[in-house]
Amino acid sequence: MNEERKKEHVEICLTKKVNSHHNYWDNVRLFHNALPEVDKSEVNLKVNFLGKQLAAPLVISGMTGGYPEAKKINRNLAIACEKYQIALGVGSQRAALDKPKLEGTYTVIKDYDLPLRIANIGLPQLIQHDKNRALEKVRKCVEMIDANAIALHLNFLQEAIQPEGSTKAKGCLEIIRSIASELGVPLIIKETGAGISYEIAKSLASTKISAIEVGGLSGTSFATIESYRAKAQGDYIREKLGQTFREWGIPTPVSILEVKRACKDRIPIVGTGGIRNGLDAAKSIALGAQIAGIAGAVIREAVSSAEEVAEKVGIMIEELRTACFLCGTRDVADLSKQRVEMWYGHE
Ligand SMILES: Cc1cc2nc3c(=O)[nH]c(=O)nc-3n(C[C@H](O)[C@H](O)[C@H](O)COP(=O)(O)O)c2cc1C
Repeated sequence: MNEERKKEHVEICLTKKVNSHHNYWDNVRLFHNALPEVDKSEVNLKVNFLGKQLAAPLVISGMTGGYPEAKKINRNLAIACEKYQIALGVGSQRAALDKPKLEGTYTVIKDYDLPLRIANIGLPQLIQHDKNRALEKVRKCVEMIDANAIALHLNFLQEAIQPEGSTKAKGCLEIIRSIASELGVPLIIKETGAGISYEIAKSLASTKISAIEVGGLSGTSFATIESYRAKAQGDYIREKLGQTFREWGIPTPVSILEVKRACKDRIPIVGTGGIRNGLDAAKSIALGAQIAGIAGAVIREAVSSAEEVAEKVGIMIEELRTACFLCGTRDVADLSKQRVEMWYGHE
């Protein structure tokens, strides 16, 4: 069932419009610097994230694994990430925990020289277990891909809509607290399209987590993806539910500001949710993210070929460099000191 679901998610992304109607990165503008006083070729995009050096402040966020075709997708992503020395996450490893013969669909990324490999598992799947069993599962995911960090994903919007969703949510913060203090590997808490608020970031900051990936509203809408799945199953109530909640969530730029205010630079932020290009990535860094994350923007390329993913990532890096140059910033840290204009509401 889980295998089918992961496959259907990708297929729906390829054949339907699954993004939120509005992309809030259009409400953010960087200030042009008419006298940059830096040569474009001098712009340095290297960043240190979770103790690893990335050649550019980018991660391809966890998407897939757990069914035979996913191996090719993860391989294509890994080849591009190796070429540009950026971070890569795999999708939820739940399927391989249940069926070890599926491990190869994730472990394929170990064949590539990546600066940062990120394992992945959903908090709704851990909440069913006691703390020790939950920690054991997390450790297995890390070991499986020899990960440098693990992302625990929060996806209660999706779980609330999908027909087979897990909506038990009591005790999540305590599970996070205990895993973060005992794991010994950096733990990233990651939303998947509905964002993280100031209050939740404050609670997370009271634990020993290493980063927050905001996964805000602007791009892939899992409410919409699940609405399409429900429709295919003839489940009219869930189909409508998914449509109603298509625009649910905290817009990514707002979520970055919320988390930054709550964590006061103590916890690095990954700006994910609706990033389409290197200019959006630059905006996310100017608002307070250390690195930007992409998922939906590369799924079509990932299914097709490593060359297409690499071309997309290469363009994004060039756009990021151009944004830095036109802001007059020498490096990524400088970008975070830039003036940013942001407005609410749509035109
Ligand atoms: C096809 C697909 C599958 C995904 N599967 C996972 C997953 O298994 N685990 C996870 O943490 N996030 C998953 N995500 C969420 C992304 O990592 C990301 O948080 C979200 O799509 C928002 O980014 P975007 O707007 O750039 O797509 C998936 C996204 C897509 C498009």
